Amino acid sequence: MAEATATAGIRTIAVLGAGTMGRGIAHVSALAGFVTHLYDPEAAALAKAVTAIDRNLARGVELKKVAAEAAERARAALRMAAQLPAAVAAADLVIESAPEDIAVKVRLFQEVDRLAPEHALLASNTSALSITEMAAATRRPERFAGMHFFNPVHVMRLIELVRGLATSPATLATLHAVGRRMGKEIVLVNEAPGFVTSRINALIGNEAFRMLQEGVASAADIDKALKLGLNHPMGPFEMVDLVGLDVRLSILEFLHRTLGEAYRPNQLLVQHVRAGRLGRKVGRGVYAYDERGERIAGEPGRRPRARKRPGYAPEGLSGMKRKVSTGQAPPSTASAPTYSAAGWKQPKNQRAARAASPCRVSMRGGSPGSRVTSKESSGAASPSPTALRYASLRVQQLKKARCFCGAGSRRSATRSLSEKKRSAICSKSGIGLRSSRSTPISRPRRNPASASS
Ligand SMILES: NC(=O)c1ccc[n+]([C@@H]2O[C@H](COP(=O)([O-])OP(=O)(O)OC[C@H]3O[C@@H](n4cnc5c(N)ncnc54)[C@H](O)[C@@H]3O)[C@@H](O)[C@H]2O)c1
Repeated sequence: MAEATATAGIRTIAVLGAGTMGRGIAHVSALAGFVTHLYDPEAAALAKAVTAIDRNLARGVELKKVAAEAAERARAALRMAAQLPAAVAAADLVIESAPEDIAVKVRLFQEVDRLAPEHALLASNTSALSITEMAAATRRPERFAGMHFFNPVHVMRLIELVRGLATSPATLATLHAVGRRMGKEIVLVNEAPGFVTSRINALIGNEAFRMLQEGVASAADIDKALKLGLNHPMGPFEMVDLVGLDVRLSILEFLHRTLGEAYRPNQLLVQHVRAGRLGRKVGRGVYAYDERGERIAGEPGRRPRARKRPGYAPEGLSGMKRKVSTGQAPPSTASAPTYSAAGWKQPKNQRAARAASPCRVSMRGGSPGSRVTSKESSGAASPSPTALRYASLRVQQLKKARCFCGAGSRRSATRSLSEKKRSAICSKSGIGLRSSRSTPISRPRRNPASASS
């Protein structure tokens, strides 16, 4: 009740920027009963926002988290605006969620200050930047604060309410009440670079990239370690794909400038951004996503460098497998690994995928009597007699090259046959040489371009 009174002056909210966060803020704002104008200079962003909000409301109804009538009211309360003046003309509160760039935000707030009603409160959803600096660009710094929402906004429960140097207690009280009406918990933070959450999260995420770059573990295993070992609900790479790698980079650059060396952005993160791997929003970040935003199975993240330390378990042989593959998606690396004689692990499903592949190299029990299997045996078309003859000749050559040998020297012998050779043989002959036991040992190559494939 007290909250309803405190927000009595706020009926209309303008949200600026209809990207990942802006559309989420518009969703919770409309659902809380505020007339909500969502502005973006990009028509495509507005169109995408309409679809996303509609879909998320529908899902809320389906899951019985949102009443059907409330969802309908929210849809009716939402207005899309392609022009800034129309968006803010009647606003009691303006929440900015434009790109994380201080120059963009300052320019935008200067315009908003000119266009919005005198009484309107202004808030920024910045992840890290200075609220005081933005407030100083307006004639109402006491009616300016940070409202830092979390992604996805309609799910995450927190708002960091950030007090700038001049923010008045009345402004904080009203924004606190608005946040509560949106169903959020509030923490009050005095302005500091990165507030509480971005400052800690940026460090964890940056360290994860550093570990990936060093080959400590794969992206998937780093994520898994933090989820299962430290009870994080998401791994750092899942998180950065959701946040946006460009957004994370901007935050780190700012924290590096303001807080020092500990926040220097890792080079692999910088490379991902340069390569356009910005995360879920573009379908590719550390992992790859389909058009519905679902993670594509078998995207294992960057392969670590294989090391011959006993017990050390590299991601596996996905790079090699792809060379030999026949167009099938690489298998997921999520399943339980098994350890080969060399102490290396290989996820079971990779072994299964190799077994299912029409093109494969094998050593049956390490015996010299390796058998040749045709594509037919794995469900593909039968090879021609010429191909069979060619394959059996190649088997003889391989035997000579000591690829198939007794159990004692199998490991060293398998290393002697380069993967390239195996691929070439397979693809020329259309036939695979199959192994039921041994893991071909090939050192996964360290290649930044395939960091996440
Ligand atoms: N992504 C996250 O997880 C997350 C979490 C909390 C806070 N934030 C913060 O929210 C803000 C927006 O991040 P995002 O992830 O939604 O970015 P985004 O890139 O998904 O969306 C930004 C949107 O702003 C629009 N835009 C560009 N210039 C504009 C302008 N002058 N006026 C209005 N809109 C403009 C763009 O067209 C785009 O649609 C950033 O300050 C970011 O730090 C992001």
